[in-house]
Amino acid sequence: MISNERLYRIGVLISGRGSNMLALADVVRDGRIPKAEIAVVISDRSGAAGLHHAAERGLETLFIERRRRAREEHEREIIAALGARGVDLVCLAGYMRLLSPLFIEAYRGRILNIHPSLLPAFSGLDAQQQALRYGAKVSGCTVHFVDETLDGGPIITQRVVAVHDDDTKEILSARILIEEHQAYPEAVARVVRGDYELNGRRVIGKSRESEVGSPKSKDRL
Ligand code: GRF
Repeated sequence: MISNERLYRIGVLISGRGSNMLALADVVRDGRIPKAEIAVVISDRSGAAGLHHAAERGLETLFIERRRRAREEHEREIIAALGARGVDLVCLAGYMRLLSPLFIEAYRGRILNIHPSLLPAFSGLDAQQQALRYGAKVSGCTVHFVDETLDGGPIITQRVVAVHDDDTKEILSARILIEEHQAYPEAVARVVRGDYELNGRRVIGKSRESEVGSPKSKDRL
């Protein structure tokens, strides 16, 4: 938690469509995560549709190109941009690059990611297709802290989604995405409120408040 005087500043990193970023932006705008604001949306791809959508909503956007330079050099520029805006929490939302230890160290415990499976199952790319190929009967999504491991940091929240017999990758992905848009704001709200403790790998809620927030209501999460 930070002091009451200033808003809690969230930086969102994207590479593409940005629907999770928009879900976060919506709940912040509606005041469902009190005392928080989206400080900046950064993409490593110039053509990312999410950049355009973020700008339309009046959010500050930055395109920080990766091409033709080393990962750490690219990350230093992102870290500097986040730092210049006083970002407290970094949310990866479809950001398609692995973060180096440099980045993790700069924001340790303050980077979240959303992944479209029930981790630790189906980490890495194409999680929905992995679930289908494996024959899983349920899948879902996971919001977790980011550490040096691939999709392996402590889990903040998960949502379960049924896999139907006639699912295609697209249909399953769409069903999971609906849950992602609920799960990510809930997890961010919990972290912004400081309503958790780490017990080993377990992220334990300190209050019951975040368990009762109705995602469809205008109540705070
Ligand atoms: C989501 O499925 C997310 O779980 C994964 O990448 C996708 C991003 O979608 N990490 P969007 O750009 O937020 O619409």
